[in-house]
Amino acid sequence: MRIGIYPGSFDPVTQGHLDIILRASKLVDKLIIGVLINGAKKPMFSMEERVELIRRVTKDLPNVEVEGFDGLLVDFAQQKGASVLVRGLRAVTDFEYELQIAQTNHKLNPLVDTIFLTTSVEYSYVSSSIVREIASYGGDISQFVPESIVDDIYKKAGEDKSSARISGRN
Ligand code: PNS
Repeated sequence: MRIGIYPGSFDPVTQGHLDIILRASKLVDKLIIGVLINGAKKPMFSMEERVELIRRVTKDLPNVEVEGFDGLLVDFAQQKGASVLVRGLRAVTDFEYELQIAQTNHKLNPLVDTIFLTTSVEYSYVSSSIVREIASYGGDISQFVPESIVDDIYKKAGEDKSSARISGRN
């Protein structure tokens, strides 16, 4: 059985991510979406929330599972018996960083290979950080994220604003 891992922060999952998930799920027998627990920055959504949102938008994909992970990606891949890592490339600007990470991961574990899927053109400009920014100003995010999670993002953006107000941040 070929198992693939699609890792990321997914804060929150976007239409661009979903596009990669749909296409990658056809290339492997099982696709595990690995949600990074400890990123450099404090995420908008907790790991549990990000996992729940992705599960909601992938509920009709029978060979897709979603799990949080901490530590090295190659260790998570080994633990799950995965031989393939999947990353999306939106533009050439993504490439340098992604190449470096893929080569490092391959050095750390030569049994694991990275494949890149080019994001569909209609989503090539979408990113989680842009979605968070638009939502924080109350703008329309409906074309950037799956419909079933739009309200969760506005709710969280609203909570973040009021906690910033209470603590004197802005
Ligand atoms: O969605 P992102 O934030 O671009 O995803 C980055 C991710 C999760 C793929 C990357 O940060 C990662 O794999 N982190 C785990 C630690 C690790 O294994 N780093 C790569 C070796 S330097």
